[in-house]
Amino acid sequence: MSGESAFEGVLRQIDDSVPFEPGYYNESYLDRRITARMRRRGTDSHREYERLLREESDEREALMDALTINVTEFFRNPEMWEVLRTVLTDLTDEKRRVRVWSAPCADGREAYSLAMLACDDPDIDESRVEVLGSDISEEALENARAGVYHTTRTTDIAEELAPLSEPDRHVERDDDAFRVRDAPRRLVEFGTHDLISDGSRGPFDVVLCRNLLIYIDTDHKGSLFDTLEASLAEGGVLVVGMTESVPPGRTDGYEPVDKRRRVFRRR
Ligand SMILES: C[S@@+](CC[C@H](N)C(=O)[O-])C[C@H]1O[C@@H](n2cnc3c(N)ncnc32)[C@H](O)[C@@H]1O
Repeated sequence: MSGESAFEGVLRQIDDSVPFEPGYYNESYLDRRITARMRRRGTDSHREYERLLREESDEREALMDALTINVTEFFRNPEMWEVLRTVLTDLTDEKRRVRVWSAPCADGREAYSLAMLACDDPDIDESRVEVLGSDISEEALENARAGVYHTTRTTDIAEELAPLSEPDRHVERDDDAFRVRDAPRRLVEFGTHDLISDGSRGPFDVVLCRNLLIYIDTDHKGSLFDTLEASLAEGGVLVVGMTESVPPGRTDGYEPVDKRRRVFRRR
């Protein structure tokens, strides 16, 4: 296409043939993920990579995986979970039904962490807790629904579950495989949702939106935040990732519950 750089050609090809909207994400993020795939395919030419994407469905799938990096952990940033423990204790004291949204949930570990925490802590009434986990990646959601996680060379599931007082009550262990037990599983539902284009859900008492905002282009952060805000109940709690923040123009709408742990309450 005339006037188009080779990199833009790759982005157009993604737009045309991969279920991913490159325009939402910041360029440095897209560049890093695409370059990583090009290296794997042994090419440093964007034109050549554009051709590979056009012709090979396997490459389109591999790039989709690379673009929706599903890196996550149980109880990621454990200090934040101590704040959430208190939030959930208070909410289940006050309300009959406490709705929580893990958006995006990747392979489900954040959503199950919420459910396990509720089942584990005697001060939280888990019968009042409902968790929705959503993501745009179907593959991640399939893994989430399966609810089985493996310790590998780089991931120690037992260590990730350390914030629980009795992990064995919540997961069934078979060597390196950890299967989420029925009690926490019953509290969680999973579904597809695009945080930029699918609009609001809820209302939720707690919304976790962690480790996605950092990849989103400034122009689209606004619509993502509109979705989050419209999904929060009055006085609801919003949690963002440890390197993320509420956009400058919107901070008046929130009071910090714990600023350092990125937990805020909607005014
Ligand atoms: C790094 S993971 C974060 C998972 C979890 N919240 C955490 O902090 O561990 C980012 C997730 O965002 C998902 N994602 C990317 N764009 C999205 C969008 N527009 N709407 C919903 N989820 C999206 C990806 O598929 C990926 O699973």
